[in-house]
Amino acid sequence: MNFSDTQIVGSIMTDHNFETTGNIAEADLIFVNTCSIRDNAEKRVRARLQEFKRYKKQKPGLIIGVLGCMAERLKEQLISEEKMVDVIVGPDAYRDLPRLLNVAEGGQKAINVILSADETYADINPVRLDSNGVSAFISIMRGCENFCSYCVVPYTRGRERSRDPLTIVKEAGELFSEGYREVTLLGQNVNSYKWDDGTGFSKLLERVAMVNPLLRVRFATSHPKDLTDELLHTMAAYPNICRSIHLPVQSGSDRILKLMNRKYDSSWYRQRIEAIRKILPGCAISTDIITGFCSETDQDHRDTLDMMNWVAYDYAFMFKYSERPDTLAHKKYKDDVPEEVKSVRLQEIINLQQELSFRSNHADIGKTFEVLAESVSRKSGKELSGRNSQNKVVVFPKKDYKPGDFINVKVNACTPATLKGEVI
Ligand code: 5AD
Ligand code: SF4
Repeated sequence: MNFSDTQIVGSIMTDHNFETTGNIAEADLIFVNTCSIRDNAEKRVRARLQEFKRYKKQKPGLIIGVLGCMAERLKEQLISEEKMVDVIVGPDAYRDLPRLLNVAEGGQKAINVILSADETYADINPVRLDSNGVSAFISIMRGCENFCSYCVVPYTRGRERSRDPLTIVKEAGELFSEGYREVTLLGQNVNSYKWDDGTGFSKLLERVAMVNPLLRVRFATSHPKDLTDELLHTMAAYPNICRSIHLPVQSGSDRILKLMNRKYDSSWYRQRIEAIRKILPGCAISTDIITGFCSETDQDHRDTLDMMNWVAYDYAFMFKYSERPDTLAHKKYKDDVPEEVKSVRLQEIINLQQELSFRSNHADIGKTFEVLAESVSRKSGKELSGRNSQNKVVVFPKKDYKPGDFINVKVNACTPATLKGEVI
């Protein structure tokens, strides 16, 4: 999401005659787009800001701006704590950037952290910074109102709002004509997508899939409580909608899921997985897991390991619980699982996932997949790297193929992270 927002900021700045540079020492302006999801993310931003001090010494007129969730969460406090910061801009205020820069150029600190009920940046054509020219993000909605008790997003990104489907389909069409072959529809909770004309997420997905059969479509992220059979049937009807679902489980324990305010229990989640397996055979399933949430016991932890084993996830993002100020969990529960216990549990979860990922990749040996080539392998230059519909990275001999080509590859080897194969 931040990556996609950065491209919107890029577009706004380009319209005001700014250019990007790969050489930081040359910059007149540095923006850092920030994440508040875990304390670690914020620590990294603060370390980055320290680095920028050096450039400010060399170039006193240099303007430093903090964008995104950390700007929204900390507001003026960030300016008092990090003196090198000139501009603070929340995720809904990017249109105000040119004005804020004028203020900063006049030597004053500039800040806009107003959240909006309807801003979607629908009319802004993102500048595809750092793009591979093959795969692009399309933001379809912003904000989240789920209020999972651990999560800062509803506070930093505000109310849920969807973008006009016409502008989404148009953006997908333009990307396809520019040579892109994959789009990922983005939202904190895509299943809540809803436009005034009654278009829900399934319908939107279908309309984007119809742009061209050669345009792959992915989406992230789905909340298990509203992953519908209707959506699964839509996916099944279009081969260009990728066979891959990211379905964050967070915990396998019903007690913890309740404390997390996830609004589903483990049997509901299992029943959603069964629906995926039935309606979309061969669909990859990935997840997010938080370990060490308030009051988590060894039994709760084992419930999570059981769930992982039962689903046999193809891939997972795994985190230690990090208490976020002013969230429901911070107000209501104690962050009482000792750091060492969190570390041990996280390691167990990582080890198990490593095994599951390897097993999943191993089961693909001998199978043939259609792979969308994305880039020439950094290591040898003689290999291409791409992904199959299941979102697994596949490496194969380059021959005369190039990024953007669809190639049938037969898998003959794997690591826990990558499939390797031959073009057939
Ligand atoms: N601590 C740890 N992980 C978190 N996530 C969200 N909030 C927290 C937190 N406070 C994780 C969830 C979510 C992913 C994007 O980040 O697993 O799905
Ligand atoms: Fe955070 Fe829950 Fe919303 Fe995801 S669904 S952004 S975890 S509040």
